[in-house]
Amino acid sequence: MSLAKAFAPGKVILLGEHAVVYGYPALAGPLEQGITVTIEPSKTGGITFQGQEGLSLLEHVLRKCAQSFRVSNVDASITGDLPASVGLGSSAAISVALVRAFAQVARINMRPQGLLDRALELEQEFHGSASGVDHHVAFERKLIRYVKGKRGQPLCLSRQIEMVVWVVEPRGSTRERVNEVKRRYELDSERSKKIFQSIGELVNEGVDALEKGKLKEFGATMNDNHSLLQELGLSTPRLDDACERLRQMGAFGAKLTGAGGGGAVIALFDDADPMVSNLGALGEKAFVARWEASE
Ligand code: MEV
Repeated sequence: MSLAKAFAPGKVILLGEHAVVYGYPALAGPLEQGITVTIEPSKTGGITFQGQEGLSLLEHVLRKCAQSFRVSNVDASITGDLPASVGLGSSAAISVALVRAFAQVARINMRPQGLLDRALELEQEFHGSASGVDHHVAFERKLIRYVKGKRGQPLCLSRQIEMVVWVVEPRGSTRERVNEVKRRYELDSERSKKIFQSIGELVNEGVDALEKGKLKEFGATMNDNHSLLQELGLSTPRLDDACERLRQMGAFGAKLTGAGGGGAVIALFDDADPMVSNLGALGEKAFVARWEASE
């Protein structure tokens, strides 16, 4: 019998990645896919771990979490249906699910901010200088406008929003991409600041358009955001090509999502299911992300 089980979803950044690290707003939402952490009494003593990839780092994060909750003698398994290392927030989902599960085992009724702070500590082990957007979405499980250091503001959607998420190619580490952007910033801070500021403006325009259900306007902000990410050197030929194909398929807009340098793209459609079927028939890995209208 398990002592605790907790789920946290992956995420997509609809607008604003990287600029969010520098204090500009971002727009991000949860996926259906995510990570489940299950904790059972240990059969062998100590803390043991069952999971697939990145074993040593995951094990380190797991031990850190167990220590911070003063829990020992447990077996933990980390499972899920979220593609890892493609910009869909798997490390944040692991961090949030671990913290929720260990809080249950330790029988601590923590306030949301306490859980968020502990999840961010774990997330920093993966990413170094994470803005916090990923684990806030994993925690809130809502589409939010997020500014670093603050709680996310849920959007008030006038209609359901559907996107295609297309996993295009493998990707390097988020930490490296964030450091690369930092190096560029240090070389020419005026240029980088201008780009971040433009991204921040797109996020605010995008939030307004999405809340009003203006898909065409929102799609335009996605396309412009992709161009600005290209200027930051974060896209790749395959990501650009995927965005172009999605636009030709009738997307209102398309962009890379997450840290870039590979990974996934997202595209806004009225009805995303047929597009996912089309991509699936071509052997591509794609799925739908959907956010319901607010009540
Ligand atoms: C990674 O999902 C998003 C980045 O903006 C980094 C961060 O905000 O922590 C690239």
